[in-house]
Amino acid sequence: MKNDNRPIGVFDSGLGGLTVAAALRKAAPNEDIIYLGDTARVPYGDKSPETIRRFGSEICGFLSGKGVKAAVIACNTVASVAAPQLRKKFRDLPLVSVLEAGVAACLEEPVPERLAVLGTKATVSSDAYRRGIHRVRRDVLVESVACPLFVPLAEEGLTEGPVAGMIAEHYLRPLRENPPDIVLLGCTHYPLLQKNIAECLGPKPRIIDSATACADFTVRFLEKNSLRASARKKGSEKFFVTDMPADFFRTAARFFGSMVGGVEKISLKERV
Ligand code: DGL
Repeated sequence: MKNDNRPIGVFDSGLGGLTVAAALRKAAPNEDIIYLGDTARVPYGDKSPETIRRFGSEICGFLSGKGVKAAVIACNTVASVAAPQLRKKFRDLPLVSVLEAGVAACLEEPVPERLAVLGTKATVSSDAYRRGIHRVRRDVLVESVACPLFVPLAEEGLTEGPVAGMIAEHYLRPLRENPPDIVLLGCTHYPLLQKNIAECLGPKPRIIDSATACADFTVRFLEKNSLRASARKKGSEKFFVTDMPADFFRTAARFFGSMVGGVEKISLKERV
């Protein structure tokens, strides 16, 4: 099989996408990863579609310039609001989106009767997950719930305990009364709150973490397109941020699972 040792890009509005980068590192230890977190402009989840598309386009321009073989849209908000426009604009840059991976994971057998997607306000208002699921299966009932405070909770490390419990209870009360078959964590930060969400919803729903789904989907995508790096090499990581590299460095371990090295601050606008 042909190999392609160029790096793969992974991007997010901030450090949340490190949950995807970590899952990808585990699923594909031989791939070089270039991560970009737009820490100067996070959060994207409460911004307008036009702004999110512009930010996504600047990031794809940056990653193209780095010579990546493909880029993973790890940010559910960008994937929900901007993926079609980015694919149209960056025809030479294969894009894998956390959304298509999440949709595929939800529709594996046994296909649920009811599922709930948790995401940012922008993700929920885009209705992209419901549309993605209904494109394949019209008979699945899809509910979407915006849980904006989960993002700062994860960043502050408040993923368990009374504050996290009360906020989960607040957002998930309607689902608690009649739990769906599947709950999809449609936001980069929510995997950190998985235990809290599971405790709030009880044993019925199967919780799908879109970060792991995205990593597995990316590996299959690379294989299908003969883009896998040589199995003999060991993958490396390089991290770029648009602000506060020291802060990123400190918080990143919580999302990536280990310390990150080599964080460089860049300016996106200058490069586009
Ligand atoms: N990365 C975003 C997402 O997955 C969450 C943080 C933000 O709002 O930018 O939707």
